[in-house]
Amino acid sequence: MGNTNRLRAKITGTGMCVPDQVITNDDLAQRMDTSDEWIRQRSGIQERRWIRPGETPADLGKQAIEQACEQAGCEPGDIDCLLLATLSSQHDFPGSSFFVHEALDMGEIPCMDLRAQCSGFLYALSIADSLVIAGKFKRVLVIGCEVHSTGIDVSTRGRDVAVLFGDGAGAVIVEPQEDEGDEAGIIEVRMHAEGKHARRLWIEAPTSANTPVRITHEMIDDARIFPQMEGRYVFKHAVTRMPEVLLETLNATSHKLEDVNLFLFHQANLRINEAVAQRLELSEDRLFNNIQKYGNCSAASIPMLLAETTRDGRLKPGHLISMTAFGSGFTWASALVRW
Ligand code: UT7
Repeated sequence: MGNTNRLRAKITGTGMCVPDQVITNDDLAQRMDTSDEWIRQRSGIQERRWIRPGETPADLGKQAIEQACEQAGCEPGDIDCLLLATLSSQHDFPGSSFFVHEALDMGEIPCMDLRAQCSGFLYALSIADSLVIAGKFKRVLVIGCEVHSTGIDVSTRGRDVAVLFGDGAGAVIVEPQEDEGDEAGIIEVRMHAEGKHARRLWIEAPTSANTPVRITHEMIDDARIFPQMEGRYVFKHAVTRMPEVLLETLNATSHKLEDVNLFLFHQANLRINEAVAQRLELSEDRLFNNIQKYGNCSAASIPMLLAETTRDGRLKPGHLISMTAFGSGFTWASALVRW
């Protein structure tokens, strides 16, 4: 059920960062057998950003957080807990959050990586909501941070996945606020997972389940180190689960579809989002997508949408927004927030 106490967790700042290197569909067509027409038609993507040599996930994360702090009117040093969602960690061991922590010189505050892939931001937002409502922390930073470009197969063999992904980071700051009857803040978050589909969209290796070592030359030669996806299978599940969890979240509150001012969907494929909107009969003026410019930035995609819409005036104080994601695992989640 939604929060019934007088304290709410509110998103007080948003920020994003993408690398400055633009990779167009035509650029990809020079590396693999693909075309601008195929990519646009199937996914809506026109270009994406890739890091340059020397850039790291932590660099993107740092800038997204600095922007979010500026909007929230605080300093990185005022944050007391850092939750980072990613599926492309800077190092598998210990993850990405620690390098962001280091880059921002965040003292001794706790930080952790959360693994729920493209739904990771909403999962982390739900945890931040609980932590803030419980009074454990006063200013929780939630960040989605992905560098896919160094982990995809940019030959024709990997084209079905490689053309979809981009690099980026998006961050929000979550703080407690007294509910003055205007319900401003996070109203409800619902999450689901179904592990039996984990192998339909995954990276097989390295794996700690492989003995005696996690990675072999053979695994590399067989391209098992790159993401593999059963595209149509994933697509079918996404267009079913996203409307389902969006409605479940709304139905847990007193709100209806027509009350929502803005729908923000995970940016995996414009065609998925169009299909979801069609199923729910949502008018275009209540949707916003940026996959055309950035590709699929997984856990970063929803906070990047928040950063853009708070700055371009689409998202205004008082608006009711519905955010929904689907990703590897499979995972899916939806959040309803009063801005
Ligand atoms: O973040 C959440 C996870 N990701 C998703 O939600 C993505 C879900 N899936 C999808 O978005 C779509 O399935 C794709 C965009 C990945 C693929 O679209 P599709 O319409 O399902 O294409 P397909 O996989 O059935 O492939 C159709 C054809 C194949 O050729 P043949 O067998 O018909 O000769 C592929 O080999 O397109 C070929 N193909 C490509 N051609 C040009 C696959 N990738 C490419 C490419 N460029 N990049």
